This record gives sequence, C-alpha cells and structure tokens, in this order.
Amino acid sequence: MNKMAVNYEEIHDYLIELALEAGAVLTANTGTSAYDDKANAVDLVTAIDASVESLIKSKLRAKYPAFDFIGEESEKHALSDLPTFIIDPIDGTTNFIHAFPFSCISLGLAVNRKSVVGVVHNPHLNTTYSAIVNNGAYLNSTTRLPLTPATPLSLSSALIGIEWGTDRDGTNFKIKTDTFKSLASKQGAMVHGFRSLGSAAQNLCAVASGSLDAYWEGGCYAWDVCAGWIILQEAGGRMVDGNPGNWKPDLEERTYLAVRPGADSEKFITDFWSHIPGKMFYQS
Ligand code: IPD
Repeated sequence: MNKMAVNYEEIHDYLIELALEAGAVLTANTGTSAYDDKANAVDLVTAIDASVESLIKSKLRAKYPAFDFIGEESEKHALSDLPTFIIDPIDGTTNFIHAFPFSCISLGLAVNRKSVVGVVHNPHLNTTYSAIVNNGAYLNSTTRLPLTPATPLSLSSALIGIEWGTDRDGTNFKIKTDTFKSLASKQGAMVHGFRSLGSAAQNLCAVASGSLDAYWEGGCYAWDVCAGWIILQEAGGRMVDGNPGNWKPDLEERTYLAVRPGADSEKFITDFWSHIPGKMFYQS
C-alpha cells in the first residue's frame, strides 16, 4: 500500500484551475472540430482531445513529478497503488463534435486504487462538480450535493442514465439492449424513463446531484469514472458493479451501476441487477 503524503486540498484546487483553463479550449472549439475514428465509426476523437490532454499532463507532471498519470489519449496503462492522476481531457467527445453542450473535462486522483479527488467541469454550462474524500461533494465549490432530497429509491419511479456505447453488436450489446427493454417495458420494471448525457462523468454528477436516480454502463474506462466516482461517493451515493453480484467494483472494472443517495439502495440495486440477462465482458 502506498503511504506517500498527499495534500488533497491543494490538488483539488489545482485540478479546478486546470479544468477552467482547459474549458476555454473546449468552448472555443466545440462544433468546429474535425474528427477521426478509433475502434469504429462511432468511437470518435479530435485533435483537441490530444492537445488538452497534453496541456494537462505537462502541468501535472511538472508540479507532481512523483505521481503516475493515466490519460485517455496518451497514457493507457494499468493502475497501481501510487498516487495517480486519471484524466479524460474531453469526456463526451461526440457531444463536443456536435456542439451538444455536455462535453466536460474530467480530472481524478486515485490513491491505493481508490478515487480520492475529483473535478468535472462543463465549460458550456459553467458547472464544476468536485469532491475530496471525506469532505463532501460540491457544485461550483459552494453548493453541497445532492441538490435534491434523498428520498427512498424505487425502480418503478426511477429516471436512469444509460449509454449505448460504441460496440453495436455482440453479446455486450445484446445484454444492454435486453436490459433497456426489461427496465422500460410494462412487463418489466416500467421505469419513468432513460436519459443519455453522452458523458460518463456527467451522468455520475447527475446521479450525485439526485437528478438521475441511477446510471448504468458497460464499456467505459477508469478515466471516464474516476473523478465522478468520488463526487458520487461524497454526495452519499454508491457505485457497484454493472454486472450483477459485485458490491465492490474496481476503478478499472469497466462495468458500473451508480445509484443516488437514498434509502433502500440495496433493494434498488438487487432489483436493477435482476433485469440484466447475463454478464457483460470487457477486456481490462
Ligand atoms: C465516452 C463517454 C460516453 C460513454 C463512453 C465513454 P469519451 O467517453 O463517457 O458517455 O458512453 O463509454 O467512452 O469517448 O467521450 O471520452
């Protein structure tokens, strides 16, 4: 286990500073950028993703040379116990390309493989969600999360964040679409509805705020969830595995179910899991 002394508050404030700086690049370029395909025609990246990551990486490396760094565009490696910045320079790249105002900068710090500091900044809506472990979660540094009363959870009255993901065939896609159908249908849970914000980080912040009851996804990575995870946890919500049965997923699990603060969360989670017909599998 790593015992390096780390000043979480200083890092939190610095991550906010970096996120605001990077935010100006996002607002100046959204909707105007050319893009490339990664794994397939719906897995998109722009030159701005790479340049924002390079800006943030160089500043974090200079200020915290002993820390490890994982970033979606340039540093994909396994997480260790070391203090590690885990960042997504643009979470919601498809939103960024389409000028749908839900792209954000997601900056997290993990220590001993757990998320301990998180900042999610959406420069288009001027929202900055942030948290430090054991210190609560905040919107724009002033308003404590959640924003809505933590009323009891129930699947039949839930508004749920889902994403289709970039794999559009195969077993994982079938499990997702069968789950969507079971949650939505009259014969199933008949939930109030689904929303897709197109950004894992912002889905997590919406759950932490209480405007979504849950968010379920398979296929995203540690850089999509690291910052949002601690914001959710500090708001009083919980993160379990998106596959049934695992109450303590890893940051690199790749399958996640986030649930807002509220009574009866265990029942809500087991009810939710009962609608998932099988196990999604993603390479770690
Ligand atoms: C993606 C978004 C999307 C989620 C994907 C992520 P990106 O991140 O968070 O909502 O469904 O799993 O990969 O590619 O926009 O950074």
